[in-house]
Amino acid sequence: MSKTPDVFATGRSFNEDEVKGKTVVVIDVLRASSTIVTALSNGARGVIAVEDMGDATRIAQNLDSSSYLLCGEQGGEKIEGFHLGNSPAEYAPEVVKGRTLIFNSTNGSPTLVRCSGAKEVIIGCFLNAGAVIDRLRETEREILIVCSGWKSRLSFEDMLCAGYLLQQLIGADLPDDAPDGAQLASALYKQYGKKLVKSVERSNHGKRLAALGYATDIPYCCTLDTVSTVPVMQDGIFTAAR
Ligand code: MLT
Repeated sequence: MSKTPDVFATGRSFNEDEVKGKTVVVIDVLRASSTIVTALSNGARGVIAVEDMGDATRIAQNLDSSSYLLCGEQGGEKIEGFHLGNSPAEYAPEVVKGRTLIFNSTNGSPTLVRCSGAKEVIIGCFLNAGAVIDRLRETEREILIVCSGWKSRLSFEDMLCAGYLLQQLIGADLPDDAPDGAQLASALYKQYGKKLVKSVERSNHGKRLAALGYATDIPYCCTLDTVSTVPVMQDGIFTAAR
């Protein structure tokens, strides 16, 4: 690893050229990255992230109907006519095994699409943080951590996870020349990392999900290092690298 990774606070806060040639870790703790990691670890064949519902249905038209599931949410709720919403609890092995998931979400999937010009795109969250770190340690490329955020605004839980990745990768104290985004994420994790679930429950999206009836997704998405699956993009599809 060459230098301290920068952290972009939202999926809209960069120019797509900035990811070229780099290894990019995309985070959407609540809930796209946690759901995709869970789905691949439960045997999904692959995940195609799309920017909108139109793209999702266009891709589906060219696939055998038994081979895919239309998945995702708008504003946190399942999209009408889709097979699955965006709660990781829906992505059990018996549901996803062997299927290709066409995945559309409010912030996570458009961020993945915006990062697709990077040399390597991987999906990270608290669940697979240890495995992501192991992979990042092996790269000589410049690393960027991209938080999906919420509609061009920063999300507390994504920055917190970026801070956790940095702490595991570099240590609790970053070098003086670390970029501001990295310093901020690291300071946030130092302050709130010990009360992970409580502080994510208090976040904007934590409250939004609780109001929609998804409160139990929060402690699940805040579980550390339980999954060894790292979704890596190849030819537009995320598959499980272990
Ligand atoms: C997103 O992509 O914005 C999220 O994953 C929203 C959600 O929690 O469903």
